[in-house]
Amino acid sequence: LWPPLLALLFGYLMGSIPFGVLLTRAAGAGDLRAIGSGNIGATNVLRTGRKGLAALTLVLDGLKGAAAVLITAWVSPEHVLLTAIGTVVGHIYPVWLRFRGGKGVATLFGVMMALHWPSGLAYAAVWLIVLGVSRYSSLAGITAALLAPVAAAMLGRFDLTLLYLGFGLLVLWKHRANVERLLSGTEPRVGSGAHG
Ligand code: G3P
Repeated sequence: LWPPLLALLFGYLMGSIPFGVLLTRAAGAGDLRAIGSGNIGATNVLRTGRKGLAALTLVLDGLKGAAAVLITAWVSPEHVLLTAIGTVVGHIYPVWLRFRGGKGVATLFGVMMALHWPSGLAYAAVWLIVLGVSRYSSLAGITAALLAPVAAAMLGRFDLTLLYLGFGLLVLWKHRANVERLLSGTEPRVGSGAHG
């Protein structure tokens, strides 16, 4: 059994692994933070033109979230929510990148799938629908994250509602530059080839 701080730190360290930056660098595609929006997530990896690398970033950023929560659920189940918080915060504010991390969309998906998969599926469905209709990855992520607490409540998991509300607001906060671009009509759509 882990002390609470260890569960939080474990989540943080797992979440802080910047797969987008590491994979892009390993593939010889440069520094992701100097490309497109400068974000370290899969959407920005896609702007390097490498679809496979973007897909791998999405999967690994999601898997690290799911793995962190599942490991704590196994070792120290009473602290699983602390690991969930640590993981999302670690992805968004990684010490390795001077606390300038990602926007949390993929990692939150993995965390939600591990905590309560039905609300994770609802999150993925909202993300896919909004992305399909609007072609804005940011709008899809913001909408899915803000509806996550609603999904948890509708599915009877009121114990997760407040946590998901916190995550949703954090994801919205990290997308503030995207929100400005969405409002001014300058946000690039996925597949448009434009750099955000
Ligand atoms: O998950 C990040 C996505 O919602 C927005 O990424 O690079 O367009 O700011 P980006």
